[in-house]
Amino acid sequence: MSQQELVDTATALVAGHKGLLAMDESNPTCNKRFAKLGIAQNADTRRAYRELIVTTPGLAECISGAILYDETIREHKKDGTPFAKALIDAGMIVGIKVDTGAKSLAGHAGEKVTEGLDGLRERLAEYAGMGARFAKWRAVIALGDGIPSRACIEANAHALARYAALCQEASLVPVVEAEVLMAGEHTLARCNAATEQTLHAVFEQLYAQDVTLEGMLLKPNMVLPGLRCPKQESVAEVADATVKCLLRFVPAAVPGIAFLSGGQSGELASARLNAMNARFKSRLPWALSFSFARAIQQPAMEIWHGDEANVGAAQRALFHRAMCDRAARRGEYNAGMEKS
Ligand code: 13P
Repeated sequence: MSQQELVDTATALVAGHKGLLAMDESNPTCNKRFAKLGIAQNADTRRAYRELIVTTPGLAECISGAILYDETIREHKKDGTPFAKALIDAGMIVGIKVDTGAKSLAGHAGEKVTEGLDGLRERLAEYAGMGARFAKWRAVIALGDGIPSRACIEANAHALARYAALCQEASLVPVVEAEVLMAGEHTLARCNAATEQTLHAVFEQLYAQDVTLEGMLLKPNMVLPGLRCPKQESVAEVADATVKCLLRFVPAAVPGIAFLSGGQSGELASARLNAMNARFKSRLPWALSFSFARAIQQPAMEIWHGDEANVGAAQRALFHRAMCDRAARRGEYNAGMEKS
């Protein structure tokens, strides 16, 4: 394993004010999103939609790397080019989601632990052979009455650290994703406490498993009030709470933090990321970037609607959201960009 290779890839993924595009929805998740819009749910529509994303003109101006799913990394464009090759040829780095999903945690109602460690070494070798240079594993932490439990946080942190160590052994940069969910009535303060607890446990486990912090990226939630919380803090308050939390719990050796969007609208995700960069940039030890799925894809999916005739318009919408997020990395996003 070359440590330098890992560091170079991790650094490249957050260079040039670009960010990551998560297009690693599992088939059930992709089907669920299609169903909501009345799009047929089958392998053909999934492939067509993913080709639309991969071939979006200019995408590499704002996207450094795209995270694929097992089905997707094996798929091809209509002309026979593998998606992975199409991304690499366009100047992007290929990533792959390698967890096998969040499953109910025994003895802990309402909580989940992410699975996928069995056979992971072999799967990582296969993905690396297909051109992947980074990987993703998502742990989810739900908030509610009496949860999160210590059991949930520790089980997920341990699995994340073992996944990260296996990735680095295979020369893949681990994107360590720990998501405190937005669903619920909880306050921003509760999200903050759970995020602190989670990040503390995750970095303790990463340390215990000898993960090289310089060769990984963190993918956390922003510190937000629950979706049904009556008090919704301003963009500036969310930015301040999120950065304060990260400064306390994320070591400076980590090259970049790339947020998930978690169900926020594209505009809000851009505005909050922008506020963090505009208000704190000169004081941050790591790059503050994005690794959004819904906040980049949603408008494009709605425009496309399963119709080939809408591909161009959908690609322009996808590119627009990615450009807004690139501007947010510079602290140069403003609501006026949504009108152009
Ligand atoms: P969202 O940005 O839609 O939350 O997805 C990010 C992701 O990769 C979830 O695993």
